[in-house]
Amino acid sequence: MILQKKSFDEYYKPSEDTFFLADCIQNEKGHAALDVGTGSGFLAQILSDNFELVVATDISLDALKKAHKTVKNCICCNSADALQCNFDLVVCNLPYLPSDKVVDSAVDGLEEGLGIPTDMIKSASRVIQRHGRLVFLTSSLANYNELIRRTESLGFDAKISAKKKLFFEELIIVECTKL
Ligand SMILES: C[S@@+](CC[C@H](N)C(=O)[O-])C[C@H]1O[C@@H](n2cnc3c(N)ncnc32)[C@H](O)[C@@H]1O
Repeated sequence: MILQKKSFDEYYKPSEDTFFLADCIQNEKGHAALDVGTGSGFLAQILSDNFELVVATDISLDALKKAHKTVKNCICCNSADALQCNFDLVVCNLPYLPSDKVVDSAVDGLEEGLGIPTDMIKSASRVIQRHGRLVFLTSSLANYNELIRRTESLGFDAKISAKKKLFFEELIIVECTKL
């Protein structure tokens, strides 16, 4: 077996979904915000304009090597597992593609595009304060109605706030408020 070492610039480059979510969060304001699965750090940078504290996490150290160049507080961990503080806002551009296994953590979401997103949202929900908000991006390629139902079962009011049609899928943004 040949083991391939990933190069340092292997991270999810800002794409159509990143820019769509960026448009939706650019006017958010508050004290503390968290970008879960930050990739290049693009969304965390946008949040830095309007939040006193911004934390960015990613499971990929390669991604954080890139994000670290522009984002102060980068932590390599699963979702929000390493965090103990509470946030006003958590954003996440989820890895939502249905897959049998995780080959590429930037995009593979396991069964129906639900397995990894459910775990990430569950972990993030622990660090969102009461009346705090979670904004995530998923897609028509995933079972997004079930993901919304699972998010509601974690104690959120959740609704689709924006959709964007692409050639082969529809991007879906879900805004949730912790009850
Ligand atoms: C679709 S990319 C989005 C990257 C970036 N936020 C953007 O919008 O361009 C998903 C990101 O989530 C990260 N990720 C996947 N599973 C994760 C997990 N369990 N915990 C933290 N980050 C994860 C991936 O490494 C990847 O950087």
